[in-house]
Amino acid sequence: MKDAQPRTVYLKDYRAPDYLVDSTRLHFELQPQDTLVKSRLQIRRNPAAESAPGETLPPLLLDGVDLELLSLSIDGELVPASRYRELPEGLSIHVQNPEFVLEIHNRINPRDNTSLEGLYLSNGMYCTQCEAEGFRKITYYPDRPDVMSRFTTTIVAPRQYPVLLSNGNQIERRATEDGRLLVTWEDPFAKPAYLFALVAGELQTVEDSFTTASGREVKLQIFTEAKNIRKCDHAMRSLKKAMRWDEEVYGREYDLDIFMVVAVDHFNMGAMENKGLNIFNSACVLASPETATDATFQRIESIVGHEYFHNWSGNRVTCRDWFQLSLKEGFTVFRDAEFSADMNSRAVKRIEDVSLLRTAQFAEDGGPMAHPVRPDSYMEISNFYTLTVYEKGAEVVRMIHTLLGTEGFRKGSDLYFQRHDGCAVTCEDFVAAMEDANGVDLTQFRRWYSQAGTPVLEVSDAFDAAHGTYILTVRQSCPATPGQNKKLPFHIPLAVGLLGADGRDLSLDPQGTTQKVLQVSETEQTFNFTGLKEKPLPSLLRGFSAPVKVRYGYSTEQLLFLMRNDSDEFNRWDAGQRLAFMALEQLQKDYREGRDLQLQPQLVDAYRSVLQNPELDPALVAEMLTLPSAQTLAEQCERIDAEAIIVAREFARGALAEALKGELLDCYRRLDCDKPYRPEAADIAERSLKNTCLAYLCVTEEPELLTLAQAQFENAANMTDSAAALASLVNHAADDMAQPALESFYERWQQDTQVVELWFGLQSTSARRGTLESVRELMQHPAFELTNPNKVRAVIGGFANRNFIQFHRADGRGFEFLAEQVVALDKLNPQIAARLVTPITRWKKYTGELGEKMHRALQSVMESGRLSRDLYEVVSKSLV
Ligand code: PHE
Ligand code: ZN
Repeated sequence: MKDAQPRTVYLKDYRAPDYLVDSTRLHFELQPQDTLVKSRLQIRRNPAAESAPGETLPPLLLDGVDLELLSLSIDGELVPASRYRELPEGLSIHVQNPEFVLEIHNRINPRDNTSLEGLYLSNGMYCTQCEAEGFRKITYYPDRPDVMSRFTTTIVAPRQYPVLLSNGNQIERRATEDGRLLVTWEDPFAKPAYLFALVAGELQTVEDSFTTASGREVKLQIFTEAKNIRKCDHAMRSLKKAMRWDEEVYGREYDLDIFMVVAVDHFNMGAMENKGLNIFNSACVLASPETATDATFQRIESIVGHEYFHNWSGNRVTCRDWFQLSLKEGFTVFRDAEFSADMNSRAVKRIEDVSLLRTAQFAEDGGPMAHPVRPDSYMEISNFYTLTVYEKGAEVVRMIHTLLGTEGFRKGSDLYFQRHDGCAVTCEDFVAAMEDANGVDLTQFRRWYSQAGTPVLEVSDAFDAAHGTYILTVRQSCPATPGQNKKLPFHIPLAVGLLGADGRDLSLDPQGTTQKVLQVSETEQTFNFTGLKEKPLPSLLRGFSAPVKVRYGYSTEQLLFLMRNDSDEFNRWDAGQRLAFMALEQLQKDYREGRDLQLQPQLVDAYRSVLQNPELDPALVAEMLTLPSAQTLAEQCERIDAEAIIVAREFARGALAEALKGELLDCYRRLDCDKPYRPEAADIAERSLKNTCLAYLCVTEEPELLTLAQAQFENAANMTDSAAALASLVNHAADDMAQPALESFYERWQQDTQVVELWFGLQSTSARRGTLESVRELMQHPAFELTNPNKVRAVIGGFANRNFIQFHRADGRGFEFLAEQVVALDKLNPQIAARLVTPITRWKKYTGELGEKMHRALQSVMESGRLSRDLYEVVSKSLV
């Protein structure tokens, strides 16, 4: 365990490193509990170091955690004990020359490494995870991203590990005298230690190749265990698409002769962009039509793209320090989102991303861990791989794109890559390149990087009939967040259109422009539109042009009008969400005040016409028919009354299902044909709508309708349809129908890790009473492993994050359960424990006893004993 009182690291304390490492030569002898690491570093005083000048050189500080030091030598001489000191998390070495070769030998224990940082074993295969600060669990090193070095890596392993991989190109492969295998890799690009990777195992490979725009041939390889070899095609196709797309849209080519991807079962995150050797969570790369859902196919495409795009935005140009994490992550998420939008339906992709942002990121912004896109302090950097850094960071980049236009943005990104290739830089450098390439001033815009919280725009309007002028007044504000009481106004691009009475966009100028991006930069501002004959209806924040909340007093009729007519598909959907939100609010109020519940008939009519509109993309229809999730509703409340939210939402779903049964059934029947599975946008759209209909139909719990789900479950030829049907049965059918389905599903798929994870998730998210008890049973299931993050996320995470109804059961047992699991996990994997605790950190927003119970559960975590730095940071900040 780390220090008792974790130290806080501040951005303002950043100092350039005292020493640089020109080359790093690593030598591994792999053994499960006793791996020997030898490292040889060519070290030199950093000419740009800021440490005090003087005769004596500053000590060399190396990071190191959970290492057994065997020996230390400088320029071939053993360093005596008097010349170095072991620190709690590293070494301090006395230095005599400005340039020297340091050689370190140390031992590590991959088998007992359950943190999944550093070098560890996953199903008998060795792999590494070094971002952010995992390299220090491999050997002593200046483990910070502004130290970039050329790596050469030799791996020696017993014969059972025929595949030995690291970054760059393989330059040597031979047997050693004692019959082991020795392989050496050399990476020609200087990189920070967090991009280092090593893999060793008995792996199979799928191979392909890609010819770059300039005609170089790149070998592409995906490595997996033999049983998964048939699940790599989609990832390979996605990779080639991503490579082409980055050439076409950003002019970026791949730079090595080989690009490798490895799938591992034990992984804390989705995937990792190690130079030339991406390591993926199996769940984010392996797929086949029979075993993976459409959502998984799409997630794989976007993550494969994401990691590939990091080769430029992250690896060629990297981060100076971890406060700059969004430099690579925000930009790369923006890149992958645009890639996915180009490959699939743009509007649907935007709706999915905004939904995630509005539920989870807005909640983060409103919670105890709120932080800016570029945080200014942390105790544990792993806690800052957040929706704010990733998703809000991507929105910030998107706003720059909106402000500069496609061409201007491209000029800016070209300049950024050209200026900073091979360097470790800051968010400031990114914005400066965008400014310089376009001759614009983004001074005020920079506040998006430094101020936390979700801005609120209050919009009102007036029409001056005498002059034909329409006046929009916009007031912005931003709630206080921990450590930031006062906020300065943001520079917000507000995309708007104006609809006339016929539902068409009005021209906003003589050129016929129908959409404008208003530059909101003051606390209160007005915008005039002239030459109008009648008061228009505003369509605000089109495409969600900024990560803000917009308040405007739309009437039900106006929202219905926008839903039918807005030329912006995103806003059409959003109008429906606002309408549903209003109806659900009314239901919550009625429930609290003891009135009978009744669903607004206009909402039913609106859903009916959406369902019957043949012109809409079926995927968009599916989104428009989906009520805002309970989590979204909770985020939008000042104080959360979980019971009222649940009652209102369940009632509304039931009422919609009842009222629209006939139309839903028609639509379901129309789409229920069996064509061969293709993970293409048009087919995904149809399945999505079909399964949305099925879910509603099953809400009625009518036996004939449940039979539809049962039939679909039995006949499905792909996992999308099979899992959707099973979910409906689990949530709505009686035990005698649901249980056999669950059992036969397990029977059929028990050998398939990814499907078993899905099966766990279907049960942990079940809205039925008694789910907590089944979750506890699932933890005893032979396929469950507390040391496997995917299993933990499926069973415990599914229950705590994706089961609003059962997690918030009134007796508070859901919270107690989570607290217990978090404490147990913290001993094995602190990163996962610190993430998993999130739902109970939001206790302050809950009303009444439920809030108190949540608070008590969180306190019990704090009082359970010594916590990891990761968990301590989150829990202590949330108890304040
Ligand atoms: N850098 C990875 C990504 O976003 C995420 C990651 C972070 C993976 C830390 C592992 C550990 O692509
Ligand atoms: Zn990333």
